[in-house]
Amino acid sequence: MLFPLGSPQRCFWTLLVLTLMVLLLAGLLRVERHTLLLGGQAEGPPITNIMFLKTHKTASSTVLNILFRFAEKHNLSLALPAGSRLHLGYPWFFLARYVEGVGQAGPPRHFNIMCNHLRFNPPEVQKVMPNDTFYFSILRNPVFQLESSFAYYRHLTPAFSAAPSLAAFLAAPHTYYNQSLLRNAHARNHMWFDLGLDPNAPVEESYVRAHLAHVEQRFPLVLIAEHFDESMVLLRRRLRWQLDDVVSFKLNSRSRRSVTSLPPEAQERAKRWCALDWRLYQHFNRTFWAALRAELGPRRLRSEVAQLQERRRVLSALCLQDDAPKNKTQITDARLRPFQSGEADILGYNLREGLDNETLRLCQKMVMPELQYMAHLYTLQFPQKRPKNIPFLKA
Ligand SMILES: *[C@@H]1O[C@H](CO)[C@@H](O)[C@H](O)[C@H]1NC(C)=O
Ligand SMILES: *[C@@H]1O[C@H](CO)[C@@H](O)[C@H](O)[C@H]1NC(C)=O
Ligand SMILES: *[C@@H]1O[C@H](CO)[C@@H](O)[C@H](O)[C@H]1NC(C)=O
Ligand SMILES: *[C@@H]1O[C@H](CO)[C@@H](O)[C@H](O)[C@H]1NC(C)=O
Ligand SMILES: *[C@@H]1O[C@H](CO)[C@@H](O)[C@H](O)[C@H]1NC(C)=O
Ligand SMILES: *[C@@H]1O[C@H](CO)[C@@H](O)[C@H](O)[C@H]1NC(C)=O
Repeated sequence: MLFPLGSPQRCFWTLLVLTLMVLLLAGLLRVERHTLLLGGQAEGPPITNIMFLKTHKTASSTVLNILFRFAEKHNLSLALPAGSRLHLGYPWFFLARYVEGVGQAGPPRHFNIMCNHLRFNPPEVQKVMPNDTFYFSILRNPVFQLESSFAYYRHLTPAFSAAPSLAAFLAAPHTYYNQSLLRNAHARNHMWFDLGLDPNAPVEESYVRAHLAHVEQRFPLVLIAEHFDESMVLLRRRLRWQLDDVVSFKLNSRSRRSVTSLPPEAQERAKRWCALDWRLYQHFNRTFWAALRAELGPRRLRSEVAQLQERRRVLSALCLQDDAPKNKTQITDARLRPFQSGEADILGYNLREGLDNETLRLCQKMVMPELQYMAHLYTLQFPQKRPKNIPFLKA
């Protein structure tokens, strides 16, 4: 024996036993808390005041559909783009007056849900959203986000249209990228830009840390597109919604033909070029998993994800022709054809034939592309206004 039998050693064993007991107790309490939360909805009414910062090319159209359906089901008011606009002033900073119904005269008007594209500008958002609003957003790995932006905004973004390919762009981005053009917002640190921050700021540690802390303070929930189903589980818990409220089909996705796989060296260049987005993504991927671990634990998470996926399978078999997405030439109902952009084939769905009226209405809402759905809700909310004109539907 290294130590004579004496008080230091006894002390050690006592401490060890005590520590184990405390840990065991803490574990039991955790299980207890999870069981209590198992009912899920018991903690109060569903949250209905919501601001979703819709980032670009991050599965956010699918989240938008979820919010639109919830708003319609509960007759909630939406902060929709004013007049003939299709978004809330993007890429300029959001202003309250971009919202329909926010007049120069009269009392300030508040809305339940704000979720259309905008560049985040908190003081202006607060003018139209109630002070108990729940803020959330979604991020995607910036390498794949950039690849998606490149295909989608190829013809709209000068930095992209000047480059022969994404790999060429990444090999010499400064050749193509003029940072003083707002239309180049899609070409660098796009998510950082959407959050209202400067996409060209030098990547200094103190700057990055301070802004990550601000974003975290403003957005108590940041979802991760790569973990979409886990994201929906967490969102549902935070909003205290029903399972069906967060079940969705993937919207606005591209056909495989229009997705380019980037070689590893181009991926590394993308991370360096979009270093602010990369830091943002890494940070919120960590907080996302920490939140899941703290709230559910792995077993419960697996079971809730499985529940969600099963419900999606059931609805997909019920609603969708061939149970699969379709390209623009295959979609027979023009109202269900998604807007096409750049070099991307954006997919949508055909519904199955012979659905009864109630099922048809449910299925239509789940597959309705965002512009059409926005126009529909605009007319519901502002029946006296001229309906939104969705130009590509007329073509
Ligand atoms: C929905 O809300 C509007 C006012 O915001 C109200 O006039 C209308 O009656 C409501 N409809 C239903 C079905 O609750
Ligand atoms: C939120 O707004 C309500 C009324 O609009 C007000 O009574 C309340 O004090 C506000 N709460 C906070 C925390 O600002
Ligand atoms: C970048 O754009 C600005 C604004 O249009 C223009 O004045 C400037 O000449 C451009 N710079 C380059 C290098 O093309
Ligand atoms: C995100 O977090 C998960 C869980 O910790 C990890 O497996 C994954 O590699 C992370 N993704 C990235 C791109 O860092
Ligand atoms: C749409 O899909 C069909 C069937 O897979 C295919 O033959 C056609 O080329 C596709 N059209 C476009 C525009 O991708
Ligand atoms: C279903 O909707 C159509 C068109 O809106 C209507 O003509 C028909 O009567 C409805 N059927 C039932 C069973 O409600």
